[in-house]
Amino acid sequence: MDSVTLLCTISLIVGGGLYYFICGYGSAERKGKSAMDLSGGSISREKVEDNYNQYWSFFKKPKEIEKKEDVPAFVDTFYNLVTDIYEWGWGQSFHFSPSIPGKSDKEATRIHEEVAVDLLNVKPGDKILDAGCGVGGPMRAIAAHSKANVVGITINEYQVDRAKAHNKKAGLDSLCDVVCGNFLEMPFEDNSFDGAYSIEATCHAPKLEEVYAEIYRVMKPGSLYVSYEWVTTNKYNGENSEHRDIIIGIERGNALPGLRHYDQIPEIAKKVGFEVVQIKDLAIPPAKPWWDRLKMGRIAYWRNHVLVTVLTWLGIAPKGVVDVHEMLFVTADFLSRGGDTGIFSPMYMILCRKPIK
Ligand SMILES: C[S@@+](CC[C@H](N)C(=O)[O-])C[C@H]1O[C@@H](n2cnc3c(N)ncnc32)[C@H](O)[C@@H]1O
Repeated sequence: MDSVTLLCTISLIVGGGLYYFICGYGSAERKGKSAMDLSGGSISREKVEDNYNQYWSFFKKPKEIEKKEDVPAFVDTFYNLVTDIYEWGWGQSFHFSPSIPGKSDKEATRIHEEVAVDLLNVKPGDKILDAGCGVGGPMRAIAAHSKANVVGITINEYQVDRAKAHNKKAGLDSLCDVVCGNFLEMPFEDNSFDGAYSIEATCHAPKLEEVYAEIYRVMKPGSLYVSYEWVTTNKYNGENSEHRDIIIGIERGNALPGLRHYDQIPEIAKKVGFEVVQIKDLAIPPAKPWWDRLKMGRIAYWRNHVLVTVLTWLGIAPKGVVDVHEMLFVTADFLSRGGDTGIFSPMYMILCRKPIK
């Protein structure tokens, strides 16, 4: 082989490898997002860095994130910043699930979603609510599995656009609808849903009773609601500084006004009028660790971080995306430690019924 051919071959291999590394490898579920089009959601690219700093300023005055009127803006900013990175690095379902030996993460995720809708006893054609729907990964799995019509609500307009595009692409737009709104004041009629669920979303409500009461209002009497809640467990000891650091780290890296202890969840459900049908922490063994996926993703994180840094430096990704990526990595470590110590669960399941009377 002469030197020109050798040079061309090497350039082709290196170029092809780089292209695959940047545009293909690492992008989530069926290439929903690639590194080349990471954005700040609805935030214009020049303002991503400012918004990231503004996000942290919410924590300088902890009281701010506890006030109902401040929460939508705070959560909306957070999801503008993280939605693309979540889709790219994790997938279209923004939640955890127990690992299942022999199953991929994607399959384990789908099974966790189907478990939720199976609990609701809904029939094809029923209308169910997804409170805090993200970009609709769970909604699509649930609609495909149950043939129910799913209406999702999210505070973040960018997620609405992403969810609608994914629904269409999956051929599920006749079963799935998405609206932009606050689940503390939903634009739905009283008694209008045959069931409701929320997956790792109501943890964003400053007062759980407010979102539960609103979900209760829109459900038909006799229908069921299931939620996977983020909670601290009985192993959490507020006197232990390591425990406190882990929980604060989880709250700050996930736009949470404050994690609740799991004993509070059924009490709050009863307070708004629900009958509690079942409670179960789905993270408890024999369930396999939900946080394994975070640990195994560390190498992918470093690869992605190099990529995001280079893309930002080249001016392809907006300034600030590197900081957001870094924040999510640090948060992943707090979440893993929350799982390892058993002080935190992101899947405390509560199943409730709205009484007939
Ligand atoms: C961790 S994501 C989970 C999304 C989805 N359930 C999933 O599993 O893919 C939390 C979701 O709750 C939504 N959310 C948080 N606070 C909200 C609010 N006040 N009103 C409506 N949606 C809200 C966010 O916009 C986001 O879509």
